[in-house]
Amino acid sequence: MMDVVAFRRDKLGYLERCAAASDVVVPVPMRRHTWLLKDARDVQHVLQTHPERYEKGSQRRSAAGVRLAGTGLLTLAGDAHLARKRALQPMFAQAAIVPFAEAAVALAEKRASSWTAGQVVDVAVEMAGLAQDVITQALLGRDASRADELAAAIRDRRRYIQYWFDYPVAGRDRLPLPVVWRHRRANRVIRSILRDEIVRRRESGLGDDLLSLLLAARGTDDRGLDDDDVADEARTIALTGYETVAEALAWTWHLLACHDEVSARVQEEVETVTGGCRVAASDYDALRYTRQVIAEAMRLYPPTWLFTRIAVADDRLPSGATVAAGASLYLCPWVVHRRAMYFPDPSRFDPERFAECRTTWPPFAYFPFGGGRHVCIGQALARHECTLIVATIVRTLRLRSLAGRRVVPEPAITLTPRGGLPMTVERAGGLRSPRPCNRSAAADV
Ligand code: HEM
Repeated sequence: MMDVVAFRRDKLGYLERCAAASDVVVPVPMRRHTWLLKDARDVQHVLQTHPERYEKGSQRRSAAGVRLAGTGLLTLAGDAHLARKRALQPMFAQAAIVPFAEAAVALAEKRASSWTAGQVVDVAVEMAGLAQDVITQALLGRDASRADELAAAIRDRRRYIQYWFDYPVAGRDRLPLPVVWRHRRANRVIRSILRDEIVRRRESGLGDDLLSLLLAARGTDDRGLDDDDVADEARTIALTGYETVAEALAWTWHLLACHDEVSARVQEEVETVTGGCRVAASDYDALRYTRQVIAEAMRLYPPTWLFTRIAVADDRLPSGATVAAGASLYLCPWVVHRRAMYFPDPSRFDPERFAECRTTWPPFAYFPFGGGRHVCIGQALARHECTLIVATIVRTLRLRSLAGRRVVPEPAITLTPRGGLPMTVERAGGLRSPRPCNRSAAADV
């Protein structure tokens, strides 16, 4: 009982204390048959080498989990999961990223232009709004009339999912609470919007938005997804594709504000790469240092700070520990990313760790996007989106921390700054006046 209270009060501290034990695999006292993996070889074994010996957390696979997340990539298992992933992978490949990345730049310009110098904005809220605008536009296209309604419904679903995890009691989905009835209404709204959008595309042709790509997706047997599957996957993308990105961005802004020299280097790189013009999707590769900064931010503050697996049979891990069938395993990037044996001086923010040829850690010591067969399907999208958004905003603005305000991570479903992240907007200094450029002006958004 004491452990449950201690865990609920300070989840990250609790897991860090567990990880400080000398064992290679650490029992989590709060939960029976639960083990925290802290050795990168064990993480690799579970996620990549022998994924068939482990399945996703039971909550996700339960009937309630399926009601929450639908029958999509998040909840499918085994061959059905593999077939679906193969069918969907092409839509997350490089070519599909370009319209998405361009939308990210245009929407970041629009949002940044709504801030004024001296204003205090809650950067966590702003990044969530921006990331949601990007994913909704990517999903439905630029002209969708009910995009705002969809975004609001997804937020209501998100609140319900947090409630569902926070209060693991029977009947919680029937309590007469606003969070519950809003969720029911949100489900109806999401279903109706997606149904209309799917019908419209089936009748008048597909575009280059993600919903069209889902409708066009084909498995190895050349069969497409039915409308319910398309709606489930679209819902999954709308939900998974914004909050994690928003957290990665929020933590990046926080770290940049604490490290002026890093911030100045990012600004310089952006200026050199863009030549003072607006950021283009094709700048991604050249924005090397900016990418390093985001990678290091996700090391220190991994948005998906914890996920789980259940052992389906007895197993022996590379570290020598044995795992009994039915045991739960905690895979915790927060803990592994902060181990000094992989990342010397682990709490120091040092983007140079990610410079080419300098990465010295073993596989799976760094796994913000998971790995193996369930590796995040949106990781390339997310990396592009974060990099281009940071570059776009840095061109004109600086975000400064508020004096005396402590920023504390809150390990909710994703790792979020507790109580938001208020920061002061400043105009960026030191930029050379923009050179004339022949890149197209910002697309209307
Ligand atoms: C910084 C941003 C992101 C982070 C840190 C992140 C993290 C993760 C992690 C750790 C997993 C693996 C979970 C597990 O193995 O149990 C995952 C899976 C997934 N992510 Fe992401 N994600 C991000 C962005 C996105 C985006 C933008 C999308 C969609 C557009 C997305 C869609 C998914 C889906 C569908 C899965 C399930 C994949 C499967 O089971 O095969 N994610 N993500």
